[in-house]
Amino acid sequence: MPIIDSDRVFQSYGRCCNNDQFFIDFYDRFMASSPAIRARFVNTDMPAQRHLLRNGIMQLVLHARGMPPTKLRALGESHSRHQLDIDPGWYGLWLDALMETLRRHDPRFDAELEAIWRQTIQPGIDIIRDAY
Ligand code: HEM
Repeated sequence: MPIIDSDRVFQSYGRCCNNDQFFIDFYDRFMASSPAIRARFVNTDMPAQRHLLRNGIMQLVLHARGMPPTKLRALGESHSRHQLDIDPGWYGLWLDALMETLRRHDPRFDAELEAIWRQTIQPGIDIIRDAY
């Protein structure tokens, strides 16, 4: 992954992540993608969860910039069958919801930037998903 790609992702995220509405819209969209997913958040403190996800996405981006995967491994453990039991098939819906939310919030988002986003954060997502 060329560093210039992760720079573009970093800057794109910077245009979105200081706005809580970005994370509200993300979870609205992600939960709308499946009743089973919505059911997982019925007892969740969503303001706290939005804050945690803000950092979680940052971890995915930082991993692409060379940061060791310690925090992603911990997320892999919490999302695994032993804890939250998150179906590995749900990560595609998670990523699609993120892309749609970026499209609405980042004024510079386009098809090329979407492809770069997907390539850049997929290795980090794989670490979480593959710990299942
Ligand atoms: C909790 C990030 C994918 C459901 C969390 C937390 C973070 C996080 C940072 C809080 C810390 C923790 O519990 O370890 C991510 C990232 C994902 C991802 C970066 C994608 C790569 C998913 C997916 C689901 C999901 C696909 C499917 C429903 C949950 C649930 C919680 C959680 C249910 C606990 C909520 C609660 O405390 O009530 N996630 N997550 N996550 N995540 Fe994820």
